[in-house]
Amino acid sequence: MIIAIDGPAGAGKSTVARELSKRLNYKYLDTGAMYRAITFELINRKLEDSKDLENIFKKIIDSIELDFVDGNIVLNGRILTKEIRDPIIDKHVSKAASSKVVRLFLLSEQRKLATNSPNIILEGRDTTTVVCPDAQVKIFLTASLEERARRRYKELLKKDIKIDFEEVKKQIEKRDESDMNREIGPLKVAEDAVIIDSTERDVEWVVDKIFSIVGDKKNT
Ligand code: DC
Repeated sequence: MIIAIDGPAGAGKSTVARELSKRLNYKYLDTGAMYRAITFELINRKLEDSKDLENIFKKIIDSIELDFVDGNIVLNGRILTKEIRDPIIDKHVSKAASSKVVRLFLLSEQRKLATNSPNIILEGRDTTTVVCPDAQVKIFLTASLEERARRRYKELLKKDIKIDFEEVKKQIEKRDESDMNREIGPLKVAEDAVIIDSTERDVEWVVDKIFSIVGDKKNT
C-alpha cells in the first residue's frame, strides 16, 4: 500500500508521517528532506547566490548519492538531521524546489524508492499529484498560517535556533506563495485526497484519523 501525504509548509506532515510509519511499520520517505539535502550541498559549496543555478544543480546531482536510513536522509554517506532544518536551508530551499533539473531527478529517485517498497508513506508536496497519483490513500494535511508558524517557531526554539516569530511567519508565507505558484510541481489538492485540517488537533488525533482511513481502505 502506498500512502501519500501532501500539504503546505508547517502543517505537521513530517511528524504525522513519521508517527504513522512507526504505527503501521511502513517505510517513511520524507521527500522534502531530499530538496533540503540538495540545498545543503548548494550552500556547502557556497553557490547559493549563483546565477546559473540549473547548471550548478546538474553538477551537484551528478556528484551525490541520496538514501534513507530509519526515515533520515543520507547524503553521500552522511546522515543529515538538524543540518537540513536550519533557517538558512528554509531560506534557500525554494531554489531547489523550483529547479526543473532537481525536480526531474528527485521524481525518478522517489518513484524508484516507492516501487521498491511494498508499504511506504511518501510525504511532501506533489506526492499525491505528481510522484504517486496512484497512491491508495491520499491525504492533504493543512492548518492555518498562524498555527503553522507557531509550530515551526516552537520547533526551532527546541533546537536552540534563535529567530523572531514574525520572521518565521513571513518565511512560511513566502514559501506557500512560491510553492503554489511555481510552474512545475506546484502545491495543489489532488481530486481524490482527503483534506485534514490540523489547526486545533494534536498529532495523535491526525495519526488516528489517517490510521482509520488506511484501515477502511484495506477492507475495501
Ligand atoms: O516539507 P519541507 O518543508 O521539508 O519541504 C522543503 C521544501 O521542498 C519546501 O519548500 C517544499 C519543497 N518540496 C517540494 O517542492 N516537493 C516535495 N515533494 C517536497 C518538498
